[in-house]
Amino acid sequence: MYFYKDSFVEKTDRMISPDDRGYYFGDGIYEVFRIYHGKVYEQEAHLVRLVRSAKDVRIELPYSLEQIREIITTLVKKSRISEGTLYMQITRGEAPRAHSFPQNGKPVMTAYCTDVPRPTDAMDNGIRAISQDDIRWLRCDLKTLNLLPNVLSKQAAVDHGVQEVVLHRGGIVTECSASNLMMVKNQILHTHPANHLILHGITRMVVLRLAHALKLEVREEPFTLEDLYQADEAFITGTTVEITPLVEIDNKPIGSGIPGTITKQLQQQFERTFS
Ligand code: PDD
Repeated sequence: MYFYKDSFVEKTDRMISPDDRGYYFGDGIYEVFRIYHGKVYEQEAHLVRLVRSAKDVRIELPYSLEQIREIITTLVKKSRISEGTLYMQITRGEAPRAHSFPQNGKPVMTAYCTDVPRPTDAMDNGIRAISQDDIRWLRCDLKTLNLLPNVLSKQAAVDHGVQEVVLHRGGIVTECSASNLMMVKNQILHTHPANHLILHGITRMVVLRLAHALKLEVREEPFTLEDLYQADEAFITGTTVEITPLVEIDNKPIGSGIPGTITKQLQQQFERTFS
């Protein structure tokens, strides 16, 4: 079951226009929502981010927020998904190829749910990463369809036999190709500030809330790749990866090379937010 251009359709009925600006230019925005026990997790926070992305790239949402909430509810119900994700994208619409905005293009929304199990193995044992230059544009806070740098980074990880790429700008760690990054040093939690250089992750926001509740000291300040090499613990956060320990970077173990104590504590607290 898909929502595409004003109606609920089966996958085979979809007719994506070659003139869709998402297809030509990556001219659109998206969200990935998590579904736990048949319920959408932090739905309103995702909608706030969607509205902000739309506003800053000047795409007018094709439906009211009330209508979007109804579309989400219908999709989750009809898909009968218990553990999964809901993908939603809105492109600037269909028009013959020209860079400037079309005069009459109506934004096109596509949304659907997918069964996605929780990545328990990675969450229990951790993942490995390599580092790379962050070559993205200067509005990484917007969740846009322009993901070519992220795609290239993720493939570099695959080519190196690891699971993620830690991105840095001149040695300052920003985030990863499809997740945010946090590290722990001397019991202090460090993560890049939520500015234009990173996506303001919903999971990041929840984890920071949990860290405050645990009375952990938190520093949302830039840190270097060198700091990360010296960290006691590190983990990535994201809608699909939740809190996944990062146990190795650039072939060097982080801390003792196994998931850290504070990471595990946060994982436990995170699980309680949806169980
Ligand atoms: N990605 N940073 C980047 C670059 C991301 O692509 C994502 C998520 C995050 C984490 O944000 P959140 O906690 O809101 O999921 C951080 C999604 C899942 C994706 O593109 O598939």
